[in-house]
Amino acid sequence: MSVPHHVAIIMDGNGRWAGLRGWSRIKGHKEGVRAVEDILDAAAEAGIQHLSLYAFSTENWKRPSLEVSGLMALLRMYLRMFLPKLRRKGIRFHHLGSLEGLPEGVQRDIRALEESTADHTGMVFHLAVNYGSRLEITQAARRCVEAGLQPDEITEEAIAARLWTAGTPDVDLLIRTSGELRISNFLLWQAAYAEFYITECLWPDFRGPQLREALEAYANRERRFGGI
Ligand code: FPP
Repeated sequence: MSVPHHVAIIMDGNGRWAGLRGWSRIKGHKEGVRAVEDILDAAAEAGIQHLSLYAFSTENWKRPSLEVSGLMALLRMYLRMFLPKLRRKGIRFHHLGSLEGLPEGVQRDIRALEESTADHTGMVFHLAVNYGSRLEITQAARRCVEAGLQPDEITEEAIAARLWTAGTPDVDLLIRTSGELRISNFLLWQAAYAEFYITECLWPDFRGPQLREALEAYANRERRFGGI
């Protein structure tokens, strides 16, 4: 079975999952983190090399402040709790997004987890926090100018090398849970030729078996990259 090198997931549906049970949205996010833990194991076991999860977008600041602060607190708690698992499995942690604008504690925890897993050689776990693709591409363009590149030196490679994903292969499979048919400003450049897999399953219910189903669907796709 052909295994995608890079799987990206838009983790949607935590709020609906909690709402269906009459619970608070933050309880849905908490269960969502349990799904993250399961998916980390299942993805590493499947032989995926890069797993990118969309946890918080540059647009998510518009959510009620209680939800935003709850999400930031959850992030801090789990960034610390993830370390033993990442050590055991040899998973390297990498942040996608802008540190600027994040609470200082979150910035510190992100840097600490990146540093303490830097020598791990297994799967790379990219967590998108304060991430927006348009911002990422705009910054890359700005960096090309700052580096003094001439117009003919501004190539696809030059831009890719200045994205937060520099050095990471393009997305092969993009999964979105809870049925919405949107890309929501996630990895627009990197997912140019990605296969899409949309499932009605709400994120807290997306676990190992659901990931394996998505991988099977991917293995049956014929990828053409614009050819015939
Ligand atoms: C979308 O569901 C989910 C989010 C905006 C947050 C996802 C975050 C997590 C799963 C926690 C990540 C934390 C760590 C430590 C990895 P929604 O709230 O938009 O759901 P809805 O569309 O049903 O309202």
